[in-house]
Amino acid sequence: AQRIFSGIQPSGNLTLGNYLGALNRFVTMQDSGIETIYCMVDLHAISVWQNPDDLRRQTRELAAAYLACGLDPEKSILFNQSQVPAHAQLAWLFNCVARVGWMNRMTQFKDKAGKNAEKMSLGLYAYPALMAADILVYKATHVPVGEDQKQHVELTRDIAAKFNHDYDVDFFPMPEPVIEGVATRVMSLRDGSKKMSKSDPSDMSRINLKDDADTIAKKIRKAKTDPEPLPSETDGLKERPEARNLVNIYAALSETSADNVLREFGGQQFGQFKPALADLAVAKIGPISDEIARLMNDTSQIDAILGKGADRAANIAEPIVNEAMEIMGMVLSR
Ligand code: TYM
Repeated sequence: AQRIFSGIQPSGNLTLGNYLGALNRFVTMQDSGIETIYCMVDLHAISVWQNPDDLRRQTRELAAAYLACGLDPEKSILFNQSQVPAHAQLAWLFNCVARVGWMNRMTQFKDKAGKNAEKMSLGLYAYPALMAADILVYKATHVPVGEDQKQHVELTRDIAAKFNHDYDVDFFPMPEPVIEGVATRVMSLRDGSKKMSKSDPSDMSRINLKDDADTIAKKIRKAKTDPEPLPSETDGLKERPEARNLVNIYAALSETSADNVLREFGGQQFGQFKPALADLAVAKIGPISDEIARLMNDTSQIDAILGKGADRAANIAEPIVNEAMEIMGMVLSR
């Protein structure tokens, strides 16, 4: 059976990258006929220190963002990770399957830790084993993510394969990363070689789902570009990362291809293209941020949705983690 799983960290401002690379695609997939399970990964978030009040608010805001983007909690299972203990249980089992050398090759850890690896939490280092558990505790087969998470999904496949091999079973499936569309790697507005990120020190580098219309327009107006007009074909964007990024954002927001965008804007200057992009971004994001604010007026409603989602998720995950324990030799005494 096929099953879709993905997660987002409730660790700060949601960006246009999270929206185009993840949220928006998750919502599309809930109508694919395949079961969809989406998680707010609060256990991942605490791998770097989070202010507890902020974490609570961000978790609910992320839930509100899923709903504001059109996620239907009847169609999809929506919950926060910490409420389904099977994630942490399977993560421990995987800590004992995965190898230290595999973790050492994870580029996200290296990027986050920099020269301070010794001072990072053990959780940040082991993070990919928890992510593998998130996916495999549902035996998920498809994992929609942005480009930056590809290596972690590949590691998940390695863990699944080693588990199956070490215990001579055909238990875990090999999940596929689903990385498609024009917005799998939305870049910083200040530097076309860096991805747009909630942790970038410059707020001008990203569009946040919570930005108001003026802020969005200002950030796009000030986005780094080059002095050339837009080319009429995507080939002409090859050496122009900033221009390519803005064209891809436009394409993703209007659900078309970069070719189509250039058919419309090729030959025009950024002075013309940027206001069109700003209008489009405001038209798409404005209603979402309004809806997030509205939903946040009643967090008890959000909590109720998450509670139901956690029950549904646990019903799938518990038998799978129990079976994994049994395979490894644990006595299931109750
Ligand atoms: P996180 O919280 O950093 O990001 C959530 C999702 O947004 C995507 N994304 C982007 N896509 C395009 N352009 C960008 N600039 C951009 N920035 C972020 C990410 O690729 C991701 O899909 N480890 C994961 C969370 C996670 C997870 C999982 C994902 C935990 N367990 C299991 C899938 C399956 C993370 O930190 O994503």
